Amino acid sequence: MRLLSGVVGCALLQSVCVMAVPVSHNLSPRATPLPPTEDPFYIPPTGLEDSSPGTILRSRSLGELTLQGVVPYTSKAAYQLMFRTTDSLGNASAAVTTIIVPENANLSRVLSYQFAEDSAWANCAPSYVVQLGSIGEAIFLISALDQGWIVNLPDYEGLQSAFTSGIQAGQATLDSVRAALASEDLTTISPTAEYQMWGYSGGSLASEWAAELQPTYAPELNFKGVALGGLVPNITSVLFTINGGLSAGLIPAGILGLGNAYPELEAYIDEHLFPANASTFKKALTQCLADDVTTYAGQDLFSYFDEGEATIMTSIPQSVLAATGQMGTHGTPQMPVYVYKAVGDEISPVADTDALVTKLCAQGANIQYVRDWIGEHATEEITGYGGALGFLEDRFNGVPVTPGCTTANVL
Ligand SMILES: *[C@@H]1O[C@H](CO)[C@@H](O)[C@H](O)[C@H]1NC(C)=O
Ligand SMILES: *[C@@H]1O[C@H](CO)[C@@H](O)[C@H](O)[C@H]1NC(C)=O
Ligand SMILES: *[C@@H]1O[C@H](CO)[C@@H](O)[C@H](O)[C@H]1NC(C)=O
Ligand SMILES: *[C@@H]1O[C@H](CO)[C@@H](O)[C@H](O)[C@H]1NC(C)=O
Repeated sequence: MRLLSGVVGCALLQSVCVMAVPVSHNLSPRATPLPPTEDPFYIPPTGLEDSSPGTILRSRSLGELTLQGVVPYTSKAAYQLMFRTTDSLGNASAAVTTIIVPENANLSRVLSYQFAEDSAWANCAPSYVVQLGSIGEAIFLISALDQGWIVNLPDYEGLQSAFTSGIQAGQATLDSVRAALASEDLTTISPTAEYQMWGYSGGSLASEWAAELQPTYAPELNFKGVALGGLVPNITSVLFTINGGLSAGLIPAGILGLGNAYPELEAYIDEHLFPANASTFKKALTQCLADDVTTYAGQDLFSYFDEGEATIMTSIPQSVLAATGQMGTHGTPQMPVYVYKAVGDEISPVADTDALVTKLCAQGANIQYVRDWIGEHATEEITGYGGALGFLEDRFNGVPVTPGCTTANVL
C-alpha cells in the first residue's frame, strides 16, 4: 500500500504515530502554520471508536485570521477542532474544522461553509489554506462573516483526502456541525444556535450529501436551510463530461480521492494504470487543484488505464461510484433547499441536476431551483451568490418558505 503522506500514513498506523509524535492540546496561538502532513495536530488519537460522532477530540486557537478578499478581512478570532467522524466504509475516523468568529457575531447563527477543495492531498485542506490567507472563495466567507454569522469551515474530505466520496463528505460535514455546537467553552457558539449550510461545486457535493444523510446519520440536527450551487449529482457523468477539457485535472484527483477511501479501488487503480505513466497520474496525490488543472488540461485521462474509457464502467469502480458518487440515493433533505445552476455548466450537465431536483421533490423535499441561462460553471459561482446569500439570510430571519418545489429560469 502506498502511503500518500505523513498524515495518511499516520491515519493508517495511528498507534505508531501517536507514540512518535506526542499530541499537544490547545497550542495557542501559534506562529507559522505547518502543512497538515507535518503538523501533529492532524494525527488522530487512538480509540476513536470509543467516542460518538461529533465529539471534540482536541482544539486550538488561531487568534485573529486574515482573509484576502477584495478588501482584506480580519476576524475577531478563529479556532480549530479535531472531531470524531465516520469514513466512507463506516469506520470511526477524525477530521478537522476551522471556526471563524467575526466582530459583532451573533453567537446563535452558524453557517457551515463547505469549501471546494477539489483535491486528493492533505495539504490542500481548507484548515491549512485558510491560515495562509489565500483561500479561494474568500469573498463568500467574508460575505457570511459580514452578516455576523460564525463560519464553520470543515475539512470534510477527512484526514484521508477522500475527494468525491459523498458519504465521507456528508458525514464529516454533519459531525463538524455537532462539534461546533458543542464548542461554546472555546468558540462562544451557543449550543442552541441556528445553523445552515452552503457550498458550490465540490462544496455543494459535501453540503448536498450532508442534507441527504442528516435524517439517518444526525437525526437530532435541525438545519434552517442549505444553498447548493453548481451541483455535481453524478460523478460518473462528471468524469465523462470533463475528460479532455480544461478541467480534466479533476479526474485523477477524483479517482485517487475515492481510492484513498476504498482500498479495493486503490488496488484496482494500481493494477490498471499503465506503468509508463502511472506516476504522472498519481501526481494528483501530492498537488492541489490549480496544479492539477495545469498538469492535466486537455488530456484523455482514461488513456492512462489499460482498459481505457471502459475502466470507469467496470465492476469495482462502478460499485464505489454507485455507493458514494450518486446523489439522491441516501435520503431526502428535511430542510429548505436552494439550488442554483448554470444551464450551460460544462463540468456537470444541467440535466443531472434537473433529474436530482425532480427525484427529491417527488420524495417530498422543499426546493427552490434557479436555472441560469447565462454563463457556465465558474461564472455561476459569482452571479448566483447573491441569491444564495439572500436565501440563507431569509432562513435565519425566519421568513417563511414557499412549500414544495419551484423552478425559475433566469437570465
Ligand atoms: C473498515 O471497514 C471495513 C468494512 O466494514 C472493514 O473491513 C475494515 O476492517 C475496517 N477497517 C478498520 C481500520 O477498522
Ligand atoms: C441572533 O440570531 C438568532 C437566531 O437566528 C435570532 O433569533 C436573533 O434575533 C439574532 N440576534 C440579533 C441581534 O440579530
Ligand atoms: C450517471 O451517469 C452515467 C454516465 O453518464 C450514466 O450511465 C448513469 O445512468 C447516470 N446515473 C444516474 C442515476 O442517472
Ligand atoms: C499513457 O501510456 C499509454 C501506454 O504507453 C499511452 O497509450 C497513453 O497515451 C499515455 N497517456 C498519456 C496521457 O500520456
